[in-house]
Amino acid sequence: MQAGAGQWYFKKEDFAVTPSSADGISPQVEVLNRAKACRFIYNVGLALRFSYTTIATACVLFHRFYMRNSMQEHHYYVMAGTCIYVASKAEEQQRKMRDVVLACARKAAKKDSLQLAEDSKEFLRWRDHLIYKEEILLEAVCFELTIQHPYKYLIQLLDYVQASKMVKQYAWAFVNDSFKSYSCLLYQPHVIAAAALYLAAKVCQEDLVGPNNQKRWWEHLKLQLSEVEDCADSVLKVHEIV
Ligand SMILES: *[C@@H]1O[C@H](CO)[C@@H](O)[C@H](O)[C@H]1NC(C)=O
Repeated sequence: MQAGAGQWYFKKEDFAVTPSSADGISPQVEVLNRAKACRFIYNVGLALRFSYTTIATACVLFHRFYMRNSMQEHHYYVMAGTCIYVASKAEEQQRKMRDVVLACARKAAKKDSLQLAEDSKEFLRWRDHLIYKEEILLEAVCFELTIQHPYKYLIQLLDYVQASKMVKQYAWAFVNDSFKSYSCLLYQPHVIAAAALYLAAKVCQEDLVGPNNQKRWWEHLKLQLSEVEDCADSVLKVHEIV
């Protein structure tokens, strides 16, 4: 675990008493808003051709932010835009402010052909949000912008079990999905990687084996099956909501 990262792991019970729920937003609505916001991050990120690590960093920042702040006070689309903006700087994939503003406005309006003059009200509104919320976000996440993600562990595991193309595809999709839920606040990235592979093998009905006929491939990352299954449940849950 990275230094300082410990404060960003929670227990399942903690999600019933977040700042948003103290502000009257039900835990169910919060879960839904988190999923919607992460889909928004994903769409804006793809439109700006950001790497998957930038997108993943933005999602984790978003989830961390709302463990300390309320959705009543900071709108989740505005914060989602801010997270992608901040993540893009952290991952050195910076784009012009103008491009980020346009991508946010287009995806929020669900209209990719939307054109905005740089002095239009909508453009300035998004621009001001990004500038103003950047500070608030950075403070809430304690300026910790270097975040480990499941992808590198997944790549290790896929190689270890010599996964088929189909298993690979599903495993990646499950890791992508995991960012929509609280998973990154509950489990360390290597656990999420193993859970994604575990689910992918199930969906594809394939038995995975490592070298020397090692059937307990999760042990390659020093994990126990119960941990992996528990995390897999949490990753799957997001499918029930969105
Ligand atoms: C996972 O997300 C990345 C962007 O973060 C995207 O490039 C990739 O195609 C996605 N993979 C799957 C299988 O959905």
